[in-house]
This record gives sequence, C-alpha cells and structure tokens, in this order.
Amino acid sequence: MQNSIHKLSEMKAHGEPIVMVTAYDYTSARIIDDIGFDAILVGDSLSQVMLGNDTTIPLTMNEAIHHTRSVVRGAPNTHVVGDMPFLSYNSNIETALVNAGRFLQEAGAQSVKLEGGHHICETVDRLVSCGIPVMGHIGLTPQSINQLGGYKVQGKSKEQASRLIDEAVALENAGAYAIVLELIPVEVSKQITSRLKIPTIGIGAGINCDGQIQVMHDILGLFELFTPKHTKQYVDLAKQMRLGLKEYLSEVKDKSFPNNSHSFTSQQNS
Ligand code: KIV
Repeated sequence: MQNSIHKLSEMKAHGEPIVMVTAYDYTSARIIDDIGFDAILVGDSLSQVMLGNDTTIPLTMNEAIHHTRSVVRGAPNTHVVGDMPFLSYNSNIETALVNAGRFLQEAGAQSVKLEGGHHICETVDRLVSCGIPVMGHIGLTPQSINQLGGYKVQGKSKEQASRLIDEAVALENAGAYAIVLELIPVEVSKQITSRLKIPTIGIGAGINCDGQIQVMHDILGLFELFTPKHTKQYVDLAKQMRLGLKEYLSEVKDKSFPNNSHSFTSQQNS
C-alpha cells in the first residue's frame, strides 16, 4: 500500500524524516520500492539525466507520462509524484487540469508537482478541488532558469527570504500537501518548515526540512557531467558500469565469453 499524502503529513507531525528520490524507469523503481522509500518523484530532471537535454525546458508531456508510467509499474508500494513539464500548467488553468489528470489517469501517479509561488496558487486550488494532490516547488525553480540566470541559491536577501516564506504560506493555503524547497539558505528553510503544517522536502535547503529529495543519478554517481554541491555521492556507479562494460568488451574480443556454461547444446532443454 502506497503512502498517502496524509501519511506524509503524519510523518511531519511525528518528526520522522521523509525520504524521497527521483526515478525515471521501471528497473530503478523496483529497487527503490523494495528498499521502502517514502515517495518517488519522476522529476523533470529526466530531461537532462535520461534524455540528454541541457535543461528541463524541452521535456514534453508525452515524455513525462511515458517515464512516469514505467516508474509506477515498478513501484506498486510507493507514492509516485509526476512532475509537470514546463508550460504544461501555466498557460491556463483548464490545460493544467487536463495535463495533471493525465499523470493520474494515464500514468497512475498519485500526485503531481508544480513549480512556482503566488502565480500558480489558483491552479493548485483548482487541481486540489478536483481531487489531484499537489506538491509545490519554490526556491530555485529550474523551469525558470532563463529568468533566474543560473542555478543559484535563492532567498539570500531579507526581501527574497520573506517572499519565499509568503509563497510557501500561499501554496499551503491553496491546498498543496507538501512543498519542495530547492537551493535556499538553511535559516530560510527552517523558518518555512516551522511556519507550515504541511511537510517541506529539501534539496540544497539544509537539515531543517521535514524531508529530503535527491536526484538518483547524482547520489549514485551515474551522471558524470556535473555534481552539485548539495549532493552526496554514495557510490560510483558510472565507474562500476565502465568496469563491467570494458570487461565484457574485452572478453568477447579475446573469445573468453561466452564459454560452455553460457551456451546450449541440442540435447539440453534450456
Ligand atoms: O526534477 C527534479 O529532479 C526535481 C527535484 C530536483 C526536486 O524537481
């Protein structure tokens, strides 16, 4: 049975950290589901780490639905959040409703995530009133990278910090069940977390959030192009992959693979 949004808010009430990770495919989702994470985000970071784009902006609804569906198949016991792509929810509210509905109906996600503050509160309210749970996302919002001018820490000045706090409160009032806080100072995430009843999920927002989320490829060392400061690399899977692939390559070249144990004779059944 998946964690409901109510379970996540109970975890905040009991001071139990919520642990989330991104996933984009069936095989990884099965492992994450088996370990027992509190929730999975099929983040629009899939645009970079899976599809090779420079930013999250090119990701389409169909690509996001395709990957979300595969994660849902692999994670029957885990709450799966679909990440709404750039412009899939901000042109008008009815389009947002149709697109958010696709994540639940076509992909089988249990909730959706939207980036932004005050300007999306009306949309959040509409989705929630139609039975679609919404996770907010403020601070560094990668879909606005062209406006923000780079992947920089947000909310450093007093004015920016109080704007972030207002946005978090507005999203809670609009009905969001949780909010991702990305790249904001620890003092600010602490204030937001103590001010809200709903859980905050941090990424580069320090220890005071109610939960943490990381991009799976970063913590496993799979994405070699860039490692953000807020990430801890727990294993070096890219190195392991290189070793395994190189060994396979050289064994086929030197004809030591396959040997008899990997081969069949006409007398064997399988
Ligand atoms: O797409 C993503 O991976 C995200 C996380 C960074 C929160 O939105």
